[in-house]
Amino acid sequence: MDADEIRALLQKALDRIEAATDVSALEAVRVEWLGRKGGQITALMKSIPSLAAEQRARFGQAVNELKAAVTERLDARKAALEAGRPAGPRIDVTMPGRRPALGRLHPITRATREMVEIFGRLGFEVVEGPEVEDEWHNFVGLNIPSEHPARDPLDNYYLKDHVLLRTQTSTVQIRVMENRKPPVRIIAPGRVYRPDTVDAGHSNMFHQLEGLWVEKGVTFADLKGVLAMFARAFFGPQVRTRFQPSYFPFTEPSAEMYVSCLLCGGSGCPACKRTGWIEILGCGMVDPNVFQAVGYDPEEVTGFAFGMGIDRQTMLKYGIHDIRLLFENDVRFLRQF
Ligand code: DAH
Repeated sequence: MDADEIRALLQKALDRIEAATDVSALEAVRVEWLGRKGGQITALMKSIPSLAAEQRARFGQAVNELKAAVTERLDARKAALEAGRPAGPRIDVTMPGRRPALGRLHPITRATREMVEIFGRLGFEVVEGPEVEDEWHNFVGLNIPSEHPARDPLDNYYLKDHVLLRTQTSTVQIRVMENRKPPVRIIAPGRVYRPDTVDAGHSNMFHQLEGLWVEKGVTFADLKGVLAMFARAFFGPQVRTRFQPSYFPFTEPSAEMYVSCLLCGGSGCPACKRTGWIEILGCGMVDPNVFQAVGYDPEEVTGFAFGMGIDRQTMLKYGIHDIRLLFENDVRFLRQF
């Protein structure tokens, strides 16, 4: 190895040292050149003893100079890199902390949890049922006969013969009563599916909360009391309620419950179609045919049931005008809750 080659080697080492931008990168360069095993300069040093005498003197001196120059530059670079960062501990414990970016609950989850909490105070237990259902639980057990328009294949998502995505959480009423003896006091929140055209007010997947209370001596007064109490707890003490006769195959008598419009307070506005009232749920006394379907004795027990759209209540409560916003999962929207 001649003088030119050693000079080239020195230049290469200095370039590598200059390119190291932190202490650990610099340490890697040091190992690469001066490491006890495999360092390039170390290898040259080790070759000196085996050279002929007069070569040994010249070459030995050149390599020693190379080593000294590289060591010096390594030390200088290390000092410079260390000076660039603060001495002592790197964490300033007196700095205000950085707020972690916490996620939050989806408004539907929030509303559902609030409903569960309110009904929990009234002794209702939460139960869940499957979203893929058979016709017995979605229709037959609920006193919805084969010729009923709700069973039209075009109004349901059938997966195969007799199996469909449930269109209502009322299915869970049947499942619970089939498996338990009265008394029963349950709510069942969950998703339901209908092939509706999606628009501001409709989604083909939405959420319902079903309720069922069956026991000796349950009356329509209990129904009204429980649901009015729920409305005041969920929407606020100022809200008024109204029941209007209606029809459902699985309840008799049946009713729809309305709450005074949350936007105008009842004086009439576009949200309540100028009526001052907004319908929030269907309800009624459990039909004796339903009790018979699940093996309960209608002479022995009575009960009431109700079903409400969770999405609709969420929209009412938070003033959301388009149901699609709830399912687009745009964080700019979700962040507001
Ligand atoms: N299942 C009904 C629907 O989806 C809502 C409903 C009405 C549920 C009356 C009930 C009830 O339990 O008693 O429109």
